[in-house]
Amino acid sequence: MKRNAKMYETVAALMTPGKGILAADESDGTAGKRLEMVHLPNEPENRQDFRELLFTAPGIEEYLSGVIMYDSSIRNSTDDGMPFPDVLLAKGILPGIKVDMGTKEMDGFRGEVVTQGLDNLEERFNEYYDLGARFAKWRAVILIDEDTPTDAAIEINAVMLARYAQIAQRVGIVPIVEPEVIFAGDHDILRAEMVTSRVLQILFQTLIKYKVDLGALILKSSMVLAGDMNSEQSTPAQIANATLRAFHMSVPYEVGGIVFLSGGQTPKRATENLNAIAKMGGQPWPITFSYSRAIEEPFLTTWQGKSANAEEAQKMLLHACKMNALAQQGRYEPEKDSKLK
Ligand code: 13P
Repeated sequence: MKRNAKMYETVAALMTPGKGILAADESDGTAGKRLEMVHLPNEPENRQDFRELLFTAPGIEEYLSGVIMYDSSIRNSTDDGMPFPDVLLAKGILPGIKVDMGTKEMDGFRGEVVTQGLDNLEERFNEYYDLGARFAKWRAVILIDEDTPTDAAIEINAVMLARYAQIAQRVGIVPIVEPEVIFAGDHDILRAEMVTSRVLQILFQTLIKYKVDLGALILKSSMVLAGDMNSEQSTPAQIANATLRAFHMSVPYEVGGIVFLSGGQTPKRATENLNAIAKMGGQPWPITFSYSRAIEEPFLTTWQGKSANAEEAQKMLLHACKMNALAQQGRYEPEKDSKLK
């Protein structure tokens, strides 16, 4: 019981109004793709520079309640030798950790994947707890195509998420469960809404079946969007309506909070859409952002891997965090923001 009380405190801290989460949890391979954008080779020192600049940016604590890290970065330190979790804790930002080990194809299921990473998970969690992590993330990937997602793919990913969430809560770590419905494709928004609702319904039925404490859990969801190849793109209000309808159909009200991934939307669209969702008024769950690309891209394009640009890039990071913190409250004014693209 004591552990659960602590987890409820963690949820409340992560879902503080006017704040959100930075997902700086790219695997070493994916971090390389970010560095490629600024023409830096994917080497440990460059990954460290990248994360150090993000985590030490002055003022981010005003807008960030948590930062999700990856196995190599939670063990990493600043040039001065301060461990990254301590850098965040000193600012009052909660350290988090991505614990899944990526996806594997499901044989016989065209293009569908299942997330790996349950082996030794309890031991890994205990170690991450000692390193300062108080929340975690596991990402499942759901693809929309003519004959996907299949129920089999949705179900096995839901079971993996439930098992991960059980183990996290046993250790006293708040699980973020992330079933990402992928934006790529030519589906329309209605199809995305149907798929998202079904995925969330099966996920929550499974979490309940496995006796996961929903109040000590956060859902990380995609927004309901027409596929990036679909010629009809929706307005922020349409996206907000479709997304909230899917949640109300599927997400029990006791869930501790809902956070969004940006999913390949431009930073500006991700911010505008969060703003439209907040403008729909109070919901049964606190809702905020947990973006990676939508927050990191403005930083990276300013930084360009050059130390001369570092200060300016940190200011851009702060700007992206601030705009999303405003959007979380429905107070973002896109027409006045010339910096986010
Ligand atoms: P994006 O915001 O770039 O979609 O990343 C969020 C995330 O955590 C994906 O797992």
